[in-house]
Amino acid sequence: MVSSSLILSVVALAASVIAAPAAPAITPAPVASAVAKRGTSCTFSGANGYASASKSQASCATIVLNNVAVPSGVTLDLSKMKAGTNVIFQGTTTWGYKEWKGPLLQIQGSGIKVSGASGAVLDGQGAKWWDGEGDSGKVKPKFFAAHKLTGSTITNLHIKNTPVQAVSINGCDGLTITNMTIDDSAGDAGAKGHNTDGFDIGSSNNVVIDGARVYNQDDCVAINSGTNIVFKNCLCSGGHGLSIGSVGGRDNNVVDTVTFSNNQVTKSVQAIRVKAKAGTTGKINKVTYSDITMSAISKYGILIEQNYDGGDLHGTATSNLPITGLTLSNISGKGAVSSSGNNVVVTCGSSSSCTGWKWSNVSVTGGKKYASCSNVPSVTACS
Ligand SMILES: *[C@@H]1O[C@H](CO)[C@@H](O)[C@H](O)[C@H]1NC(C)=O
Ligand SMILES: *[C@@H]1O[C@H](CO)[C@@H](O)[C@H](O)[C@H]1NC(C)=O
Ligand SMILES: *[C@@H]1O[C@H](CO)[C@@H](O)[C@H](O)[C@H]1NC(C)=O
Repeated sequence: MVSSSLILSVVALAASVIAAPAAPAITPAPVASAVAKRGTSCTFSGANGYASASKSQASCATIVLNNVAVPSGVTLDLSKMKAGTNVIFQGTTTWGYKEWKGPLLQIQGSGIKVSGASGAVLDGQGAKWWDGEGDSGKVKPKFFAAHKLTGSTITNLHIKNTPVQAVSINGCDGLTITNMTIDDSAGDAGAKGHNTDGFDIGSSNNVVIDGARVYNQDDCVAINSGTNIVFKNCLCSGGHGLSIGSVGGRDNNVVDTVTFSNNQVTKSVQAIRVKAKAGTTGKINKVTYSDITMSAISKYGILIEQNYDGGDLHGTATSNLPITGLTLSNISGKGAVSSSGNNVVVTCGSSSSCTGWKWSNVSVTGGKKYASCSNVPSVTACS
């Protein structure tokens, strides 16, 4: 139900839509013109909201999605908006159940400003899909494709219970995501939630993620390719920590200039992980981790590997995807790693495939020493 005080207005399609009293889709404003004017604010609600928004998006300067209930098996698709459109989520946005690949939400464009109103929640209702098998088992829709966004911002979005991966950032240039919450912690019960990556970033430049809180069961953030990416002031809980990669074997295999700063990683399998796929080519250059605090890490405090093959530390490390200029400073993890885990693990293919590293004030303890490190640069040691 939409409160009667809410002012609903839309121009395009107004004539063709009949608003049912119980769940008004869109209510026409008292405007005769069928041509959208600049400054038009459109509000879409209820079960028809997704379809109306898809159709009318190009004629709205502001799109308000108010308690939209997206039906099963379709994408809430905002990929055809005018440059500079504002998108505001209000109330609870839900999606119906179906086994399919998604995405459930897609936003694309230039100068787009997406925000969540106070109390707004995007609820993927993941429990309907969660079977403990993630990418296998039931076919699960990816949640949010933030693709081809340029000069855009996403602020204060609260996402919960994604069926599988949460936010995919791809083909973006100039995207700032501030204060996003991704809460898949309900998937911890019975280990049902799996492969619920927080942010997967590929082929994107100039991306800033600031103040995110991610509670999940896989990478908090995984950067497969891209340049000038910053991930700062974030909390990662329950998952696989702050990851570069896996890099290698994709269309784009270059990661250059990435900074993780002032992040907290807790209750996670790893905290810091850089994964180069064995036997592939590419490069990982100028990645910095600074002011990272870790606690309750079960397997690896810091893992830098050139022998990733879908699993960690498999086979022999190779050297055609060099890791250069890797900087770690102020890494705090005293007693953070479980006694069966390893504190710092480094496997490089050769002495020339890991160069220009600078590590200072790195303290990670609690676990045991890993026995099969290789070609470890002198700034660190396996421990
Ligand atoms: C993000 O959250 C912080 C802390 O609550 C707040 O100070 C800041 O203004 C928020 N940023 C935006 C862009 O809303
Ligand atoms: C490390 O921490 C110290 C003390 O808080 C600070 O002065 C320094 O700037 C930090 N170094 C980096 C690279 O962030
Ligand atoms: C080392 O890092 C910790 C936080 O990780 C910081 O509190 C401390 O001041 C740093 N020490 C120096 C000498 O930079």
